[in-house]
Amino acid sequence: MRLSTQVIVIANQKGGPGKTTICAHLAYEATKKGKVCIIDVDPQKSLLGWFKDRPTSDITCYAVEYTEILEAVEEIQTLGEYDYLFVDTAGSHTLTISSLLLKASLVIIPCQASKLDVKAARTTAHMLDDHKIPFCFVLNRIRPQDKRDAEGAETTLSHLGKVLTSRVAYRNVYMHSMGLGIVAAEREPSSPAVLEIKSLWSEIETYLNRLVKHG
Ligand SMILES: Nc1ncnc2c1ncn2[C@@H]1O[C@H](COP(=O)(O)OP(=O)(O)OP(=O)(O)O)[C@@H](O)[C@H]1O
Ligand SMILES: [Mg+2]
Repeated sequence: MRLSTQVIVIANQKGGPGKTTICAHLAYEATKKGKVCIIDVDPQKSLLGWFKDRPTSDITCYAVEYTEILEAVEEIQTLGEYDYLFVDTAGSHTLTISSLLLKASLVIIPCQASKLDVKAARTTAHMLDDHKIPFCFVLNRIRPQDKRDAEGAETTLSHLGKVLTSRVAYRNVYMHSMGLGIVAAEREPSSPAVLEIKSLWSEIETYLNRLVKHG
């Protein structure tokens, strides 16, 4: 029997660090372990667009207004049908979604390596810290020439919270697959993106299990 639905919220008050891309890729990876539902609460509805193009029916998706997100998450939790619920949020709304964040088993903050991005991620992290909501950072869109910036970002972010060791590199396959309703592994099974996402999900799963164990 399913114990409970793990609620994983992807958030960062900054626009464009890769929230939707990471959300779709993690949701796909999670389908190998259980039943997955995704909620798009971003008025842009990018995740919903990705889902509508999706050729397979391995994931359930709902588009929900901010005013209704709490009820939607509670309903899905009560239903007990899903092992994982991923919620993709909008940058600009992050500060007004604290009620949603309180429902999160874990918040994932995708962050690029620039100083501006790190600064924005800091604001999101402080808010989560204030509410004692578990969160972790994932460095995204890292190019080989960003190595030093990535190290700097990791050091700064590690003072604020957990930084996942698995990073997501800048790869065209992420962009191209998202436009087709699929993920990198489905578009290019031999791409290094496949192992990258597997490793990211495995780290997140381990962290989630630890959080469950320690209450
Ligand atoms: N690792 C990556 N490599 C290459 N391109 C990426 C990567 N991650 C995201 N992108 C691209 O960067 C752009 C922004 O990504 P995405 O839409 O996932 O960000 P977001 O945080 O959801 O943005 P928003 O705040 O507007 O919702 C998209 O064009 C996406 O394809
Ligand atoms: Mg998005």
